[in-house]
Amino acid sequence: MQAKPEKPRLAWAVTGSGHYLEECLDIVRDLDDVDIFYSRAGEEVVRMYGHDPKEVTPSGRVYRDRAASSPPVGLFYRGDYHTLVVAPATSNTVAKMVLGFSDTLVTNIYAQAGKCRIPSIVLACDTEPEMDTPAPDRIVKVWPREVDLAHTHKLRSYEATTVVENPDKLLAALTARLKEI
Ligand SMILES: Cc1cc2nc3c(=O)[nH]c(=O)nc-3n(C[C@H](O)[C@H](O)[C@H](O)COP(=O)(O)O)c2cc1C
Repeated sequence: MQAKPEKPRLAWAVTGSGHYLEECLDIVRDLDDVDIFYSRAGEEVVRMYGHDPKEVTPSGRVYRDRAASSPPVGLFYRGDYHTLVVAPATSNTVAKMVLGFSDTLVTNIYAQAGKCRIPSIVLACDTEPEMDTPAPDRIVKVWPREVDLAHTHKLRSYEATTVVENPDKLLAALTARLKEI
């Protein structure tokens, strides 16, 4: 296991969403003291949009979803992190978080952060009934389903969880949180 950092850091989870991906990576690049946790799809999709998963945070650690039991969750219990950001969060990951699943690295760290009372900020992709979203090669229109919008809405009521709808609100919520630390 990695050495414990001198002071708690920010954990940032990236899932397999093209929507708001570029904006999220731009925010991460401007941060210090951040470690990245990729879902399996997150790692793939980041590559599809032309980025190297390792280059997003040159000074931070990068965790990939390779093991069944998500060993990095132990870092949350050890106190390595003050906050978890999940951004962008796919429909799939939001649905699992709402139902309490913890069967991927990202859903696991969200669940374990909650059990350690570490706050999470989630940028959910499905917030509007109609959205323009970037595919790797063009902009496409998508219509999130009622079930997707309902999950985003429900997640807002969860303890230790702030749901934001766009990168500007993510940055505002994160800035406010970092001032509290
Ligand atoms: C190029 C590409 C872009 C995608 N963009 C989105 C997206 O914007 N929102 C979304 O919910 N899923 C998107 N997906 C689908 C997810 O990657 C897929 O549902 C995956 O199983 C999610 O796994 P994860 O939640 O563990 O990351 C995209 C897939 C690809 C290949």
